[in-house]
Amino acid sequence: MLAAFKLLTLKVHLQRRNKFVQIVFDQVSKEFGTQSIALSQVSFVIDSGELVLITGPSGSGKTTIMRLLIHDYTPEKGEIYWGEQPLTKLRSNQVPEHRRQIGVIFQDYKLLSELNVWENVALPLSIIGKDQVETESRVTDLLKLVGLTDKAHLFPSQLSGGEAQRISIARALAIGPSVIFADEPTGNLDPESSLEIVRLLRQINRLGTTVILATHDAVVLEFLKTQRRLSLAKGILANDSEPRPMPKRDLESDTDSVSTKLQSTKTITETIKVAKKAPEKPLELEVSEEEIGDQPTKSTPKVSVPKKPTHQKGKKS
Ligand SMILES: Nc1ncnc2c1ncn2[C@@H]1O[C@H](COP(=O)(O)OP(=O)(O)OP(=O)(O)O)[C@@H](O)[C@H]1O
Ligand SMILES: [Mg+2]
Repeated sequence: MLAAFKLLTLKVHLQRRNKFVQIVFDQVSKEFGTQSIALSQVSFVIDSGELVLITGPSGSGKTTIMRLLIHDYTPEKGEIYWGEQPLTKLRSNQVPEHRRQIGVIFQDYKLLSELNVWENVALPLSIIGKDQVETESRVTDLLKLVGLTDKAHLFPSQLSGGEAQRISIARALAIGPSVIFADEPTGNLDPESSLEIVRLLRQINRLGTTVILATHDAVVLEFLKTQRRLSLAKGILANDSEPRPMPKRDLESDTDSVSTKLQSTKTITETIKVAKKAPEKPLELEVSEEEIGDQPTKSTPKVSVPKKPTHQKGKKS
């Protein structure tokens, strides 16, 4: 249990790349052999900045949607658009950059047990080559955001389930994704910790990050009962509580957008350079007792920064 928190204001400099991406599933089917149809002709549109629940019983296709979105799976039929980019046309050298735009949160946290809390959150920043000053600043802000500044030196085995999940959320946010996909993030948690996680995800959404939350947790569904909900049943989208209009596309413009993406390497490199130069917008986050729940009442201890992890085993999950 965590102590009750006083109202507190944090300035969080989540230096997000200011990307606004609409996600479109257009008649998407995913099959595993002829016997297992994970998704069947699923269509929906998620606008940038939405918080959307994906719900349905075990085996209904929630995780499959996440795997398709990160281009871990490709659909047998239909198309998934990430903004203007059809994901079936993504080249293999574009996949890492695509995945960096999606922070995935798993039921079992997937923290690296040999790294401490600080190092787990810093790992994605280290992988993309952020310098130590920026890494320190971001990790400090993210630990404040999730209320675990005082646990920076603990290892995952020393955390409660709720704390471990908050750290995995901080890690997912580290490189400023446009979208967070939380796949049953409260599956291993008690109701109180579950609410804490959902409040945190809602707060992150209010910062401007699109949040997709796959769950069949009754506590979560009740807490977010007014939120848009996609209901799956045996791979079919049985209901979308607030359907968005499907953008009109013609094959011509798809071809155009693909050919635009397939510019020369030189042009792409220049585009990346320009994007890197663009000012990153610091975001201010008001975190209150009502929103996050528990925070320490004492003043937040200063975190001494551990050395950059040298043993970066495994990969960011
Ligand atoms: N790699 C795979 N190979 C074979 N079948 C798969 C694979 N991935 C998913 N499936 C099947 O697709 C269907 C949907 O699975 P999925 O994991 O998306 O369900 P889910 O809604 O996330 O379920 P849960 O709530 O249990 O996590 C299931 O019948 C599953 O067995
Ligand atoms: Mg699943």
